[in-house]
This record gives sequence, structure tokens and C-alpha cells, in this order.
Amino acid sequence: MSDTIKQAVQSKYAAVAKSGLSTEHSGVRGVAEAFGYTAEQLAAIPAEANMGLSCGNPTAFASLKPGEVIADLGCGGGLDVFLAAKKVGPTGKAIGIDMTPEMLALARRNAEKADGGKPLTNVEFHQATIDKLPLPDVSVDCVISNCVINLAPDKQAVFREIVRVLKPGGRLAVSDIALKRPLPAEVANDLMAYVGCIAGAIGIEQYRSQLIEAGFAQVEILDTGSDLNAYAKVESQSGYCSSGTEAVLPVVSASACCSSRSTDADLHKRLADLLRRHNVNDYAASVRVFAVKPR
Ligand SMILES: C[S@@+](CC[C@H](N)C(=O)[O-])C[C@H]1O[C@@H](n2cnc3c(N)ncnc32)[C@H](O)[C@@H]1O
Repeated sequence: MSDTIKQAVQSKYAAVAKSGLSTEHSGVRGVAEAFGYTAEQLAAIPAEANMGLSCGNPTAFASLKPGEVIADLGCGGGLDVFLAAKKVGPTGKAIGIDMTPEMLALARRNAEKADGGKPLTNVEFHQATIDKLPLPDVSVDCVISNCVINLAPDKQAVFREIVRVLKPGGRLAVSDIALKRPLPAEVANDLMAYVGCIAGAIGIEQYRSQLIEAGFAQVEILDTGSDLNAYAKVESQSGYCSSGTEAVLPVVSASACCSSRSTDADLHKRLADLLRRHNVNDYAASVRVFAVKPR
């Protein structure tokens, strides 16, 4: 993966990991609830595992069973790893993969108290990019991921890796952001200028065809209809790039780089103006992606 994009995305999420955001903040709780987490689920895991970074709730539709091995790609603070670990139980295992050391440090700290204040023992975390998974061939029953694949520059490499690590009949259950139609040129151009190294979301049909090309069958991509403006509820996200305007456009904010451009007040003003005129829900959607590796 390109070093520039990797460093920019890493530095953004390192800052988020150190920001202290948690379910205790009403905006962060609001994002999680908007994307399908129940109060019960949020209460069952450390508050610091949820930083309002999700765009769905993959363990809710992954049909996880006791004894299964689960891998969560881009696990952040461990939110879905802990929920998955409870579903697969002591005979199963939940593995979190993330490339940002600060996120993994947070996830490991959270794991120490994720079983009702005690350590959760059926979890492990690895530092890696998701296009090169540090997992053996045919070793995983279900791969989950939450709002991460849109950040990966080489999605085809990610899908190939998932196929490699899944057992025959294994499944993919992903929440992500995908485009319903191309961003208007004026938005796309200005945002490209703003972020400089955007990786970005792809269209729903492209998502489907890339999964099929990688070898998946039974591919289903469902627009959940969730309101992407939910991200605007998270105020003062100290880890995020500046003005807050980008928080209302997760397709971009998720890929945004904390570059020197983030101090460009003029660009911020133009961006804020564009976002007032365009509703992100017209262009992008929170999607549920489900697919199976053939036997
Ligand atoms: C939007 S956050 C989502 C975190 C978590 N899934 C959640 O819902 O709370 C994206 C996470 O993916 C990680 N990430 C982004 N791109 C990655 C890549 N190519 N390889 C591995 N991790 C990546 C970031 O470090 C960050 O922790």
C-alpha cells in the first residue's frame, strides 16, 4: 500500500486512539446507535472500545457461532472483536487486525477489562495492513470489518487476502461506506484537493464485481438506509482534522489525511459551503456486505 496514504491514515487514527472518545460521550454513543448497536451491546464492552468510528454493526448479521474463528479487519479499539468474542465463546477466537499501533495498544488495554472488568482471553490482536493479513491460509470461519475497506487503496488485494484466509464455506460480513452514484465533480475535486491522498469509497456495483472477481459467491450488498449525517453528532473530535466540516462527509473524513492543508481556512470555507449544498446521503450509503467463499 502507498506509504503516503498509510502514514496519513495511521496518523489520523493514532490521534483518535489517544483522543479519549468513548461511549460516555453522547455524540459517540449516538453514532453507534445510529448504525445499529443496542444499549445492551454497548454496555457489555469497555466504553473506550467505541469511538464513533463505525458505519454498521457487522456482528449483528454475521451469524457467529460458538467455536468459530473470527478476524476483524481494522479493529480499532476492539469494539467488534469483543462482541464477536462473546458470541464465539471460550472455544472460539476473535482476532483483531489493525495497522495503527496506538489503536492496537488501546484495544489490548480494553481487552484487559472486556469480560465484565476482567481480561477477555479468547482475543488476540496483530499489527498489519489488511491487504497482507498475518494469518495462515484457510484458518478463519468469518471475516468481519467495520468502516475500513473504504480506506484501503487496493481493495482487490484486500478481497484476495480474505479469500485466502477463509475456510471453504467461510463468510464475509462487512459494514462499509459505498457510493450510490459518483460524487459531483465540484465536490470530488475540492475534496481531493483538500485531502490530497484520499483512498475513498467505491460504487456498490464495483464492490460487488470486485468481490466476485476475488472468488466470492452469494454476494449481497444492502443499503442500510442509515443517516450518514450521524457523524456530525460527534463534536470536538480532537483526533480529527480540524474544522469539523469533514465530519459530516464520512466518505471523505474516513479517508482524510491530516496534512498541512488542514490549516487552509479558505479551503475549509469552500468545503463547508459545498457540504451545505449537497446531502451526503444522496451519494453514499452505509452498506451491509455479505459473501461466501465457495466450498
Ligand atoms: C474508521 S476506523 C474503524 C475502527 C473500528 N472498526 C470501529 O468500528 O470502531 C478505521 C480503522 O482501520 C484502521 N485501518 C485503516 N486502514 C487500514 C489498513 N489498510 N490496514 C489495516 N488497518 C487499517 C485504522 O487504523 C482504524 O483503526
